[in-house]
Amino acid sequence: LSISMIGVSLDLGQSRRGVDMGPSAIRYAGVVDRVEAIGHQITDEGDIHINAGLQAENSDSKLKNLKEVLETNKKLAEKVESVLKEDKFPLILGGDHSIAIGTLAGLSTKYKNMGVIWYDAHADLNTDETSPSGNIHGMPLAVSIGRGDERLVNLHRDGQKIKPQNIVIIGARSIDSGERLLIKELGIQVYTMHEIDKYGMTTVMQKALQHLEGNQVDGVHLSLDLDALDPLYTPGVGTPVPGGVSYRESHLAMEILEESGLITSAEFVEVNPILDERNKTADVAVALMGSLFGEKLL
Ligand code: ARG
Ligand code: MN
Ligand code: MN
Ligand code: MN
Repeated sequence: LSISMIGVSLDLGQSRRGVDMGPSAIRYAGVVDRVEAIGHQITDEGDIHINAGLQAENSDSKLKNLKEVLETNKKLAEKVESVLKEDKFPLILGGDHSIAIGTLAGLSTKYKNMGVIWYDAHADLNTDETSPSGNIHGMPLAVSIGRGDERLVNLHRDGQKIKPQNIVIIGARSIDSGERLLIKELGIQVYTMHEIDKYGMTTVMQKALQHLEGNQVDGVHLSLDLDALDPLYTPGVGTPVPGGVSYRESHLAMEILEESGLITSAEFVEVNPILDERNKTADVAVALMGSLFGEKLL
């Protein structure tokens, strides 16, 4: 592969500062050497960031820091689009999960029927009307299917970027009431921790991929929120939820994705070095990238 790595230094899509340093933490954990050792080419495109300083967000807002989130995501969408034009594999490092709005907008310029694997403790299907927090990192999937504030929905290109039937959420264990309604209304595929426990990760991943192949997707994006894993393994996240996916199960999931040969882009988000223990969460992110990009023991 020829990979283009884009850091997105944004922490304003949620309320705990420090996740803007995620890209540095992941670089420091050795992502470039790790991926090159597998035999891939990787170009570090540096970071996208805005000079927001330490401004306090408007805590009453239903869309906290909307201006900064919009500005950063517009830049990201442009960058992703240009990386695709060079026929490179986009690897995006977050930053909070609101950056998926820009990533998916950029990817949608090339992929018209793209599948998305959303590996996350949360569904990120809130709108400004249903969000309990006003944090935009809880909204990217809703925005990308065309729900929510029109400034977000129409970012980079007008309207829907991905089809709801092409989404598979894996690892969910915290879903808000508005999100639950949307999942039911649109029939979005969700494998919660219950299904992972009951059927095992192999079956869950196989079903997820079969579903996407059945829809004849023209690419598959992996959006991996490090809070999908149990906080035992990834403590450096802003919204940890106990009872998560294990380290081994996550490696297995990445290996199955790699074997499928279907993944065409990836992002790793929500690494917050301020909340972490000795860069443990960034280390896990890089280890999972190793499996996703085909690292073999023998
Ligand atoms: N559902 C909650 C909210 O809307 C939490 C979202 C957490 N999202 C994330 N990307 N970590 O505020
Ligand atoms: Mn900053
Ligand atoms: Mn999450
Ligand atoms: Mn998320």
